[in-house]
Amino acid sequence: MARPEIKTIQNLESAFAGESMAYIKYRYFAKLAKAAGDLETAAIFEATADQEVMHAFGHLDLLYPANAITPTRALEIAIEGETYEYSEMYPRFRETAEAEGNAAAVAEIDEQIAESKEHAQQFEAMLAKAGKRFAALAKVEERHANHYRDALNKAKQFAVAA
Ligand SMILES: [Fe+2]
Ligand SMILES: [Fe+2]
Repeated sequence: MARPEIKTIQNLESAFAGESMAYIKYRYFAKLAKAAGDLETAAIFEATADQEVMHAFGHLDLLYPANAITPTRALEIAIEGETYEYSEMYPRFRETAEAEGNAAAVAEIDEQIAESKEHAQQFEAMLAKAGKRFAALAKVEERHANHYRDALNKAKQFAVAA
């Protein structure tokens, strides 16, 4: 029998991509409509974009369940994504754009590579900072645990002596 759960995850990923694209596209269309002086059309695109974001969040609730995604894990996922962008995806797209003589696309891709790299570095710095914070917290916890153990031992000694 097929493994439907794997298909569903893929479908959710596709649906998430579609809703996310609709959100960005409608925001962009709203911007164009505003620039063209059509505020009514801009408003419907903006309102619908807000709905698409909720649809995308609905898929994310299933793809990245809140009880499984710690801030640390979220940073790791983000670093993975940004790193893929600047080290694999964009360099490949850049090659194609260059071969096709699309200078505008090459220039835009170069900007995206730089930005993705910067995002990955910022996330990495935050992850390192979070790691230090956890280490510090662990030390405090250890001190508390030692303190409780000492108190417990003292209480036991007292109980034996009594
Ligand atoms: Fe939608
Ligand atoms: Fe990015």
